[in-house]
Amino acid sequence: MKLYATITVVLLVLGVHAGNGGKRQLPALGRPMREAFYMDPDFVQLNHGAYGTYPKVVGDALREYQQRSERNPDLWLRRDAKTELAKVRQMLADLVNADSADVVMVPNTTGGINAVFRSLVFAAGERILHLSSIYNSMGSIIQYLVDYSNGSLSKLVFDVTYPMSNEDFLLAFETFLNQTEDPAHPIRIALIDHITSVPSIVNPIERIIPMLKQRNISVLIDGAHAIGQVPINITALQPDYYVTNCHKWLYAARGCALLYVDKKYQGEVHPAQINSGYSQPANFQNEFFWTGTMDYSSYMTVPTALQFRREAGGEDVIMKYNHDLAYNGGRRMAELFGTSIMQDEEQIGSMVDVRLPVNNPDDSKLDGEWWIDEQLYRHPNTFSSVYKHNGSWWVRVSAQIYNDLSDFELSAQHFLDICNELNMNDQTTTTSTTTTSASTTTDNSNSASSNVIM
Ligand SMILES: Cc1ncc(COP(=O)(O)O)c(C=O)c1O
Repeated sequence: MKLYATITVVLLVLGVHAGNGGKRQLPALGRPMREAFYMDPDFVQLNHGAYGTYPKVVGDALREYQQRSERNPDLWLRRDAKTELAKVRQMLADLVNADSADVVMVPNTTGGINAVFRSLVFAAGERILHLSSIYNSMGSIIQYLVDYSNGSLSKLVFDVTYPMSNEDFLLAFETFLNQTEDPAHPIRIALIDHITSVPSIVNPIERIIPMLKQRNISVLIDGAHAIGQVPINITALQPDYYVTNCHKWLYAARGCALLYVDKKYQGEVHPAQINSGYSQPANFQNEFFWTGTMDYSSYMTVPTALQFRREAGGEDVIMKYNHDLAYNGGRRMAELFGTSIMQDEEQIGSMVDVRLPVNNPDDSKLDGEWWIDEQLYRHPNTFSSVYKHNGSWWVRVSAQIYNDLSDFELSAQHFLDICNELNMNDQTTTTSTTTTSASTTTDNSNSASSNVIM
């Protein structure tokens, strides 16, 4: 039994299914691929970017590792977990073109960014720079540092409003850096998203990083969405710190992220949970290995996730499929809405933002949980994040290898239903002469123009 279980783990890690020469025959990309994942048959997942999801083989590996650790916890936690983790780090380092000595595993991007920021010893007067599109938790970390600095630290925010091309971003950013230069208040570090959450923009970090480093500003890249969505080349990019979630786009189980730290800072970076490995200077690998008792199984799913990706066609094929689908699917939704997508094609990885046909974007009821409730209760078989930006409401839609264009059309239909009713109610409440009710005026045919009440 024990031997069988061990062999199963090995086979899972290697992606071997008996009798087919070590390669699984996966369903084709698109709808057929849904079989390889866990989603309910009537659920159309278009929100992959939020938490990621993993294929069934990754779920199998996760459970196998959880059981393995219980069979002999000492053997696992004192010996084998470390060895296995080193292999995982090596595989990920190879994927992002980094030295495996420079990367450690952390449970999530929030943990990695906390580790970096809270390890820094700031001098009085220093500033932290970030974009206004920063992910909310990261904004909170910076605010926390400022709040607890006794007034010696401040933040500098570069406002971004989209649509805006990458070229325009770079020009405006350079001007902003020049205009805000202040020797009395040097910018110690900048947090830049590789791919922002909302709006979902792939930032030209290969040009942003040198711009900052030239000015002696350390660069921390929030790559929460990056690995598996866009290629990452740490050696070429040369950030000082880079964090990326393997549980979002790489198909690892949740609670799995990679933190890269440039060698010259490793002695100063401690995990957010200080632990028995603490030393001065920090022993980077040691301190990040044992951050308190935890389940390492999600980290251990990386080899299976990578094997699955190879079998699905490899990194380039997956990224291209998702990119093309996001771009074309987003444009199809915009066509049905009579609106537009937010991004230039180069700003799209696997997510796209489409403007919703909302007549009164300033309706205060839309600012709360309204969109979430509408989707979860009225259209629970698909979900996408909705947010307000630049005076309009947008929906962020994720493309994944288990989606095809028809999923985007289905989502568009749901949002058209929601927006139609919203616009109609808005008309009924704001126009006193309107006497007809929704049930008598709506023609919910498939035509976009007849569906949207402008
Ligand atoms: C840009 C960005 N940064 C950080 C995070 C946080 O990731 P996690 O919750 O895995 O720490 C997210 C989550 O969606 C994100 O979009």
